[in-house]
Amino acid sequence: MELKIEKMESKKIAIIGVGNMGGAIAVGLLKSGFLPASDIFVSDRKESILNEMQSHGLNVCIQNREAAKKADVIIVAVKPYHIEGVIQEIKPELGPKKILISIVAGVDTGALGKMAGADVPIFRVMPNTAIALQESLTCISANGNTAPHKGYVIELFNKLGKTIEIPEELMAAATVLSSCGIAYALRYIRAAMQGGIEIGFGADMAQFITAQTVKGATELILQTGHHPEQEIDKVTTPRGVTITGLNEMEHKGFSSSLIQGVLASYKKIDNSGK
Ligand SMILES: NC(=O)c1ccc[n+]([C@@H]2O[C@H](COP(=O)([O-])OP(=O)(O)OC[C@H]3O[C@@H](n4cnc5c(N)ncnc54)[C@H](OP(=O)(O)O)[C@@H]3O)[C@@H](O)[C@H]2O)c1
Repeated sequence: MELKIEKMESKKIAIIGVGNMGGAIAVGLLKSGFLPASDIFVSDRKESILNEMQSHGLNVCIQNREAAKKADVIIVAVKPYHIEGVIQEIKPELGPKKILISIVAGVDTGALGKMAGADVPIFRVMPNTAIALQESLTCISANGNTAPHKGYVIELFNKLGKTIEIPEELMAAATVLSSCGIAYALRYIRAAMQGGIEIGFGADMAQFITAQTVKGATELILQTGHHPEQEIDKVTTPRGVTITGLNEMEHKGFSSSLIQGVLASYKKIDNSGK
């Protein structure tokens, strides 16, 4: 067992495109200690980003192909309209022994397989921006060649938060609920802060109170596995303050607007993929 873990951690990783997400993955991996900086290779077309990555001790490659050649695992983190060009460039380095991981939204493993070659083990993963703090929820699906590598890829992304494996048909829904979901939750925090300011707090304190409260609510659900309403029941005294506020929010469409927002994002992502 020990040996297996050692082998898992000894793979070299290339990250192609080290912008918001690729950069966060690089820094998160470094912080996690999953592998040494000397085993991470990054490439990007922005010199400023590469200089920053070099300051973290990572190996910087000018050519994507060079990064792909030096690594066992290649994470592609460019915008969807750049993926095809990037895969064309690195294709000579791909094969059954290299693991290709794409975080690119809207490009499925079938399309990736056509670009990369049918024998390449391909994982499609959908993290969110909390990956920078190793608090991502990362959804993973894979093509048919990946069984021997699945444990490694799950282990890798577990170092950057929590991981779930999903059927690929749910990837668009996962993108909405997890990647867009970060923004929905932040918008709740902003709105609650604005209410907090109106009832007496300065912006900084309103932000701290709201953010820590949301973190507490999240932990109550994650650590107990309770349904949210079970925890809500504990704070809604009959004729009380909390139920009065909650019901007013519902009269104004709180739950309904959230559900409709999720559905609107899903409709948009669904249509944009066609
Ligand atoms: N943001 C999210 O919440 C989220 C969540 C999950 C997945 N994703 C996916 O993550 C991917 C990256 O998103 P991002 O927000 O990190 O984008 P980003 O900040 O624009 O980062 C992409 C980086 O790749 C560089 N690049 C473009 N073409 C390249 C090439 N041919 N070779 C090497 N580097 C190249 C870009 O340079 P230029 O700026 O010069 O083009 C940029 O520095 C997207 O496909 C997105 O769908 C995002």
